[in-house]
Amino acid sequence: MSWMRRALVAASQSARLRERATRWRFVRRAARRFLPGENLDSALAAARTLATDGIASLLTHLGENVADRAEAEAVTEHYVGLLDHIRSAGLPAEISVKPTHLGLDLDPELCLANLTRLVAHCPPDKTVWIDMEQSPHVDATLELHRRLRDTHRNVGVCVQAYLYRTANDVESLLRMGAAVRLVKGAYSEPPKIAFPKKSAVDENFFRLARRLLSPEARGAGVRAVIATHDRKLIARIIAWAAEQGIARQQLEFAMLYGIQRAEQLRLAREGYRSVVLVSYGAYWFPWFMRRLAERPANALFLARNLFGS
Ligand code: FDA
Repeated sequence: MSWMRRALVAASQSARLRERATRWRFVRRAARRFLPGENLDSALAAARTLATDGIASLLTHLGENVADRAEAEAVTEHYVGLLDHIRSAGLPAEISVKPTHLGLDLDPELCLANLTRLVAHCPPDKTVWIDMEQSPHVDATLELHRRLRDTHRNVGVCVQAYLYRTANDVESLLRMGAAVRLVKGAYSEPPKIAFPKKSAVDENFFRLARRLLSPEARGAGVRAVIATHDRKLIARIIAWAAEQGIARQQLEFAMLYGIQRAEQLRLAREGYRSVVLVSYGAYWFPWFMRRLAERPANALFLARNLFGS
């Protein structure tokens, strides 16, 4: 991992920088590439536009590591309202939530209660997705998911291909017939627990994707969402799935708003399930820094905004 990536992930965790930088116009302007806006209406409008192109949405209200129970409950309330909006507008959309935004840091039981409320409020044919955060939260997040699955089917969880442990976690999720979103991983993790080389992460992603799409997984009812912008990996997975006789509609790809738009459209047009994660909210700074960390060229893009070009 490059020094720049580490620096940007560290910047994402600085409250002081967050307070200052979110007031700078050029930062706000650059962040707009990845966010349709700060409020719910802009996210819903983006979801409607995506739907006209045959692309489903995954909506996330930005935030993490809340300070107290009241804040975690207010976030839950917000998501309950969002589920109502999705239902009344008939949008092809689901929600994705961060456990620490729902109180995991404060009390895992509080987080479970908040998640249970959301899953119970969500129609049974839609899934409430649980994001995966930094490695100290992985066990607790998988445990939340496992306990929710005891009572509800419509919950899914994200797993990160950069962690060595994920191969084992995928086996447990496979046995459950779970809904699993596979990503490379957005945080900065030590080589003791995560593949330090990008090529090894990519290979592990391909291996895990095949496992999640295997006859055994499909037989168990696994819903696999392949969440990457990596066109080479997408092409490899598509070629492998075609060899296995997996129908296009059974392959679901997810990307982030504002990244690889042409690829999102191409997949939808060619009959694959194409999903875009749309984030919104005032707390966008850490999220934006992680997007910059994923691609050094984005830091140049930020610099260009500084000079207004
Ligand atoms: P990779 O980083 O190799 O990028 C492949 C190509 O995609 C790049 O060469 C570039 O062209 C383009 N690209 C990628 N990122 C870009 C960016 N920020 N700006 C511009 N172009 C970019 N992570 C996590 O830890 N927990 C989670 O819950 C989630 N959830 C999640 C949901 C969805 C729907 C997606 C798409 C991603 C996540 N992630 C995540 C983030 C994920 O872990 C990862 O950091 C990013 O997707 C970037 O990795 P790629 O797989 O795209 O590959």
